[in-house]
Amino acid sequence: MRAAVRSVGADRRGARAVLALPHPLHLFEFLTRSGHYHVGLAPAEAEPLSRAMDRLISACLGRLARGSRVLDVGSGLGGTVALLEKAGFRAVGIDPDWRAVAYAAARSPAGAEHRLGTLEDVSDGPFDAVLLTEVLQHHRDLMPLLARSFALLSPGGFLLVHDPVLLVDVPWERVPYHRSGALAECAARAGFEVCERRDLSAEIRPTFALLGELFEARRAELLSAFAGRAGVEAQLDELAQHVQVLERGFADGYLAYERTWLRVPPAA
Ligand SMILES: C[S@@+](CC[C@H](N)C(=O)[O-])C[C@H]1O[C@@H](n2cnc3c(N)ncnc32)[C@H](O)[C@@H]1O
Repeated sequence: MRAAVRSVGADRRGARAVLALPHPLHLFEFLTRSGHYHVGLAPAEAEPLSRAMDRLISACLGRLARGSRVLDVGSGLGGTVALLEKAGFRAVGIDPDWRAVAYAAARSPAGAEHRLGTLEDVSDGPFDAVLLTEVLQHHRDLMPLLARSFALLSPGGFLLVHDPVLLVDVPWERVPYHRSGALAECAARAGFEVCERRDLSAEIRPTFALLGELFEARRAELLSAFAGRAGVEAQLDELAQHVQVLERGFADGYLAYERTWLRVPPAA
């Protein structure tokens, strides 16, 4: 992993860095010029999508005390950890994909920490907040995830979740998102207070059209940057198709996008 960290450090945003780590996450990074692999919040006209992606997270930070310790689970390319660190939090990111961790670590501001693993590997709590941004599709059973998060948080600590949810019953094998309400039910069983659940569907939906435009506008540039690397075109098509399926899900009304704030009850 150390060699990979050095090679991406040589070129922070360019094609060579992405070439060093071929992965759908990195194609996405190339397209959006952001360290995020999540939707944007209320993209404004002529604004880069990357800024709206930052806003999904930065809009929440006022609720957390500056200087507090925050764990980002499934931290991907490190965009959220970088934002947190720059905003004065002590940020730790953890992700099971070593390529994502290496990439994030190489671009990260001083002080931010990137670890390889999952929530199960974290044993140095307490944290003041845990963030789960678009990672629930990797957790079919929510109870262990919530119980572990609860155990790692300090009294009064927050668990902040952003994720698509299903509004109809669809087998997990077909669409791996949880039913709307399932998270809040499990969270209450794990001991959390459900502070807020908000449907952000209308605010995030423009993301899909903007991504479609970027797939068109940057396709030639991307294929030229990745020239000679087997499978990139197919990976790009697969990614574009995934975005289209999501867009259709929102248009047809069977998907929504929710932000959920959960809190460990403060000490009496
Ligand atoms: C859609 S990406 C979201 C990345 C990041 N949270 C963001 O908002 O940019 C999902 C991430 O979850 C990670 N992941 C996969 N399995 C996981 C698990 N069991 N626990 C935590 N993260 C996981 C993937 O490697 C990937 O980086």
